[in-house]
Amino acid sequence: MRISVIGCGYLGAVHAVSMAKLGHDVVGIDVDAARIGDLAAGRAPFFEPRLPELLAEALGSGRLAFSTDPADAAGAEVHFLCVGTPQRKGEYAADMRYVDAAVAGLAPHLAPGDVIAGKSTVPVGTAARLAEYLAHEAPGAVLAWNPEFLREGHAIQDTLSPDRLVYGLPEGPSGAAAAAVLDQAYAAPLAAGTPRLTMDYATAELVKTAANSFLATKISFINAMAEVCDASGADVTALADAIGMDERIGRSFLNAGVGFGGGCLPKDIRAFMARAGELGADQALTFLREVDAINMRRRSKVVEMTREVCGGSLLGKRVTILGAAFKPESDDVRDSPALSAAAQLQLQGATVTVTDPQALQNAKGRFPELSYEPATENALLGAHAVVLLTEWKEYRSLDPVSTGPLVADKNIIDGRNVLDPAAWRAAGWNYKGMGRP
Ligand code: UDX
Repeated sequence: MRISVIGCGYLGAVHAVSMAKLGHDVVGIDVDAARIGDLAAGRAPFFEPRLPELLAEALGSGRLAFSTDPADAAGAEVHFLCVGTPQRKGEYAADMRYVDAAVAGLAPHLAPGDVIAGKSTVPVGTAARLAEYLAHEAPGAVLAWNPEFLREGHAIQDTLSPDRLVYGLPEGPSGAAAAAVLDQAYAAPLAAGTPRLTMDYATAELVKTAANSFLATKISFINAMAEVCDASGADVTALADAIGMDERIGRSFLNAGVGFGGGCLPKDIRAFMARAGELGADQALTFLREVDAINMRRRSKVVEMTREVCGGSLLGKRVTILGAAFKPESDDVRDSPALSAAAQLQLQGATVTVTDPQALQNAKGRFPELSYEPATENALLGAHAVVLLTEWKEYRSLDPVSTGPLVADKNIIDGRNVLDPAAWRAAGWNYKGMGRP
């Protein structure tokens, strides 16, 4: 099939490369010329496992091209919309200008029968609005809403073999035709047994926001339990293991710590609250305010704990932050809990050094006032407190014995509850987990 992918960020670049891997002829389009230049030259513009190899393979096969000109989308049977919907400055609502601009730029190049498949996370009602626009501007083209559930760090696998495919479709023959076209695009995962669900636009849009809200709620639930554990001397990791064995609850996404960040969960729950308010259903989502508040408290909690282990004041203390990315296997620092805590510590008088195997370049761009050190051993030198905030494998496997002589004071705060408290204590460290005695 001929496919266009509009927007080549985390979602679009991975989608374009994955569609080429599935055997389609793909053109990836983005307004950012530098990004397109990188991709066309085979340079992945961000860190994502397997992306560089698959990008090189797809470019080498001749099935993948990149362009800044929306006219190059002409002739494709499916156009995947993969542009961002960030939080609007000073508001909770999503900024829809990139989606609207992408559709407006694409419309003149569409032919009757073309399918536009929206993958961006959008406020419910967006697809209906865009479908009306397209009915005037590109008659005969059909809009489908096909939300994406990929996780950064596992993006290629999540795209090539997703848990499920969701198609939001218009009623009638045009919807059936669009589903058939999407089935062709996803022939390989469908043949491998991926469940495929068809529904109306609004439900498809909500599937994505509801899924992310549930995940955020699960994390904030266990973090709320961590607060109670702290108050009562209980251990939240043992609690999570035990309740997680109930298959109705499940153990995944019950890791307590410094909380969630990234380009999706925080902004998606806020945009969802804003949209519910516009629809007159704000009461239904007031609990998400609490989910957000619990999550934000985790960052302040880490700062408090660090102050405590430093003897009550951060002034003149050297603090090493292990991790800058919002999660491991990613160089994404959008709304990273690690960087947020690092910045607060620095503001309160500590001298903060941040280390991360992949995200330092991006971190520097966001928080130029922090010190950055790529080598873990150098970052640890002379520290009065070490704070693990992103659970990269190299930090999980740090050896408490050989690390000891590097630091000034053996204080470690495990903001992701991934270290073995007994081993660290045995090596003479003052170990503090979050929600663990
Ligand atoms: C998320 C959704 O998982 C994905 O389905 C959707 O398409 C996009 O948003 P992503 O943002 O890549 O994906 O990261 P995710 O793995 O969900 O982690 C989000 C944040 O939650 C990270 O900061 C992570 O550290 C944190 N987290 C996750 C916890 O604090 N505890 C957990 O148990 C799990």
